[in-house]
Amino acid sequence: MEKSVKYDDVIKQILAVVKGEPSATARYASAACLLSQSFDYFFWTGFYVVDPVKPRELVVGPYQGTLGCLRIAYGRGVCGAAAESLKTQIVKNVHEFPGHIACDSQTNSEIVVPVLDYSGKLAAVLDVDSTKYNSFDEVDQQALEYLCQSLLKGTSQT
Ligand code: SME
Repeated sequence: MEKSVKYDDVIKQILAVVKGEPSATARYASAACLLSQSFDYFFWTGFYVVDPVKPRELVVGPYQGTLGCLRIAYGRGVCGAAAESLKTQIVKNVHEFPGHIACDSQTNSEIVVPVLDYSGKLAAVLDVDSTKYNSFDEVDQQALEYLCQSLLKGTSQT
């Protein structure tokens, strides 16, 4: 199945599951679970959320995969670059990305998408890491950006 079709299906499913759920954590957890079940090369799929206390720091949130590092400062690695720039990051080969945080050596490419709240402030980033090189392109970007824009709608964060 084409990946754009897979994304359409899984995103519809995620948004149906979280409809009416006020907890952002429950929404992040459901999205991480269903996304990681849909693509066999999604090796680590989850969220780093903005720490409410420590400024300019992300802390690990709901995820599927092997142990992720707990905290990432803005500007560090791919997640930190997305948090700093508020722009989606696509890295075709993580071994060539300066400052990439190698939580697990099985990761070879990744995409990180910012999740913004109602006021346009960063709430979290969605990090998807792949065992394959060059896994992500504009199809993934468009689908995951749509998901991230929709995921917090209906919570207290929107
Ligand atoms: N890929 C991330 C680090 C987090 S983990 O791999 C789970 C990065 O360089 O931002």
